[in-house]
Amino acid sequence: MVSCEKIIPSSPKEDEILDGPVEGLSYEQLRRFALGDAAFNNEIFTPENGLGPGFVATSCGSCHAGDGKGHPFTTLVRFGQTDETGNKFLEQGGPQLQNRAIPGYKPEQIPAGATFSKFTPPANTGLGFLELVADADILAMADPQDLDNDGISGIPNYAVLPSYVQTLNNAIPLKGKYIHRFGKKAAAYNLLHQTVNAYN
Ligand code: HEC
Repeated sequence: MVSCEKIIPSSPKEDEILDGPVEGLSYEQLRRFALGDAAFNNEIFTPENGLGPGFVATSCGSCHAGDGKGHPFTTLVRFGQTDETGNKFLEQGGPQLQNRAIPGYKPEQIPAGATFSKFTPPANTGLGFLELVADADILAMADPQDLDNDGISGIPNYAVLPSYVQTLNNAIPLKGKYIHRFGKKAAAYNLLHQTVNAYN
């Protein structure tokens, strides 16, 4: 027993598991958390509730299991964008490959000549409260030329907001564009934006 305990780590304590609500929520906030948690983990998309014709997965939790990270079998593929001039394959299904389809339809394939990348799902536990980090703090940490020589060249990603997204407090826009936060390339402005893209 003793030697087994050395090799096999014990399971985490309840308050160390990250898929639950944060502390101190009101009853109404807990209710919203429960609804979102169920939609994320339990809801299965079907043609009856809007899946298809092309699709990638039938639930959020199938990629972000336990609200956590994915693995090599839950990657998604985006194609057609090589630089800031935009995606030249939007008419052919870009940017995201819908590699599965409901019966009677063909899944998409990466068009000839398109570059592509695979993305592994990140954790969804919200440890950084990213939506609450002020633009000023992001700008203060930006280091595009890596002048401090730590090997990290953080570059804020400014982009145009979709019409349904409201700007965050104290936003510092540049030429009509706003600093985005979520996703591997900070391509989504807030959680609503990221979630709309994910459902779509
Ligand atoms: C096929 C796998 C897959 C499915 C299904 C999926 N995601 Fe993701 N998710 C990803 C990947 C990959 C990323 C990071 C890539 C990106 O958007 O830049 C991501 C990123 C996110 C992020 C941003 C996390 C961060 O810290 O920036 C959120 C939030 C999220 N997903 C929510 C959802 C929701 C809600 C659903 C269901 C509607 C969903 N995801 C379904 C793969 C998936």
